[in-house]
Amino acid sequence: MDVKRVIWRYWDKRSQTYDENGYNSQKEVRHFWKGLLEDVIRTDESLKILDVGTGTGFLALLFAEMGHNVTGIDISRGMLEKARHNADKLKLTVDFMHCDAENLPFEDETFDIVTNRHLLWTIPSPKVAIDEWCRAVKSGGRIMLIDGRWYDPTIDMRLRRFFGRIATFVTEKRSPRLFMSYYAKIKDQLPFFDGSGSNYIVDLFTEAGLKNISLDNLEKLKEFENKSRSLAYRIANKPSLFLALGEK
Ligand SMILES: C[S@@+](CC[C@H](N)C(=O)[O-])C[C@H]1O[C@@H](n2cnc3c(N)ncnc32)[C@H](O)[C@@H]1O
Repeated sequence: MDVKRVIWRYWDKRSQTYDENGYNSQKEVRHFWKGLLEDVIRTDESLKILDVGTGTGFLALLFAEMGHNVTGIDISRGMLEKARHNADKLKLTVDFMHCDAENLPFEDETFDIVTNRHLLWTIPSPKVAIDEWCRAVKSGGRIMLIDGRWYDPTIDMRLRRFFGRIATFVTEKRSPRLFMSYYAKIKDQLPFFDGSGSNYIVDLFTEAGLKNISLDNLEKLKEFENKSRSLAYRIANKPSLFLALGEK
């Protein structure tokens, strides 16, 4: 089975509803995230930034708004179409491109920062991907990854996901079956599908030769999301976010 084909087909479909809950476009959400990103990258310069698995462009557009020169890539043309639409709405310029996170069409050492949010769980070869991002980042540049433990298999979390799916159906009119109708076939081929714990990421960063590796448990973001995320999201997801940073 062609895993990547299943993935882009799912995200093409999902692109129709991805931004519908309104989280990504809320003014206070964007303001909060900009503060978070500024605290991490700490620069007055305009950087060259690559957002991998950009989706509808959440991180890419925030970085563009902060004055950086941003490229956003995704495997789903549907998600990219929405990202371009979002950029137009915000009157921002981002170079959105269709390509695969594990095989980038960029020269070595092109970017100051390679980043992604909520991507690694759906990558078949996380090590290949991280090595590829390290190739594309400049010496002294940084890899910044924002992830979480999404599919905690404990009974408590299974129950929460069950009720979360009902809440999603009621509040967003979105079928909870769509996701598993694609991912059930391929989940065994996605090493982090059941959760990319931060310790695994530190190991991968270390193996890739990154230095000054740091982890942030994003406590302020968890507090913020507790207030700003939809009820369905809060039921189905126990906050387990982290930000990993490594320097080449
Ligand atoms: C959960 S969404 C996250 C989107 C965005 N980063 C955000 O924070 O809203 C995952 C995204 O990764 C993309 N994706 C999955 N596999 C990919 C790959 N191999 N290469 C590039 N993008 C990929 C999907 O199409 C989807 O847009």
